[in-house]
Amino acid sequence: MENPIEAVDLSRAFGEIQAVDSINLSVSHGEVFGFLGPNGAGKSTAVRMLTTLLKPTSGSACVAGFDVVKKAPSVRKRIGVALQDAAIDPLMTGNELLRLQCVLHGLPKRSGEKRCKELLERVGLTLAGDRRVGAYSGGMRRRLDLALSLVHEPEVLFLDEPTTGLDPTSRMALWEEVRSLNQELGTTVFLTTQYLEEADQLAERIAIIDNGKIVREGSPISLKSAVGAPTLRIDVSEDSLEAARIVMTRFGEERPARRNRIAIGLDRGTPGITDVMKALEEDGLEVHHVELDEPSLDDVFADATGRRLEGGQA
Ligand SMILES: Nc1ncnc2c1ncn2[C@@H]1O[C@H](COP(=O)(O)OP(=O)(O)O)[C@@H](O)[C@H]1O
Ligand SMILES: [Mg+2]
Repeated sequence: MENPIEAVDLSRAFGEIQAVDSINLSVSHGEVFGFLGPNGAGKSTAVRMLTTLLKPTSGSACVAGFDVVKKAPSVRKRIGVALQDAAIDPLMTGNELLRLQCVLHGLPKRSGEKRCKELLERVGLTLAGDRRVGAYSGGMRRRLDLALSLVHEPEVLFLDEPTTGLDPTSRMALWEEVRSLNQELGTTVFLTTQYLEEADQLAERIAIIDNGKIVREGSPISLKSAVGAPTLRIDVSEDSLEAARIVMTRFGEERPARRNRIAIGLDRGTPGITDVMKALEEDGLEVHHVELDEPSLDDVFADATGRRLEGGQA
């Protein structure tokens, strides 16, 4: 079967603004794919095209095996979407909104009721099901959005900045929901985010988008290791410093470090650390402290764009 998401030179302009500029995407079955970029990068525009809500100005995309322009209704049947800032009637309860969604998708009453119950349980809102949505916290709202997007058991799920504005605890709770539905139901997930940690933690593969263009793509690990070797630092007593240096520099080039400490760029990446420790031990060198600093996705972003994502905007 073909990939659930394929885009070829997909583009969208708004007047002079090239919001999405010739992006290519291949997302495979059961993958959690992260689309990482700052505000205004083009994430929502890409999601809106992939979910048939907006026509591309050029290029094409297939989702769940169907062309998003020529076969929009077939695509819609097979996808779930939780958009940024989706409007929800605050006077309705979570349960009512879910029931309504079941009706909209043509589920018979009986199976609709069963489905609502399952979904509320899945996102941990069973007890809040009969409360008005206006009284939900931000995290509860996002979990309800997620449940609403799952009513018709979509093959592909699109989440546009699902955790923006949430506190760290609610954010992690939502990550857990996404992980479990990906693992238990095999749902392919396309998720946009401006949070480095979210992309790092949740996505098997990410694309970094900036000014409408994909500037990097790959697994978080491969992207980070492509930026540079992690720095390994060890503390030893002063009299074994020279001996430790000789051992350490077999595993990578020396980097600046403070007194009684040796730092190297670990050539083989993080897995190489065990060999270094073994070699030090074999030479009878006692290590007082170890530190490993890996490049972050922010370093990857900076390498690609010359700017920092972290601290750039809220
Ligand atoms: N309907 C629209 N009309 C005009 N410009 C738009 C419209 N939607 C998005 N844009 C512009 O396209 C660019 C990408 O926006 P968007 O896709 O919303 O980015 P993101 O979701 O990554 O924050 C921005 O410069 C934005 O101002
Ligand atoms: Mg957006």
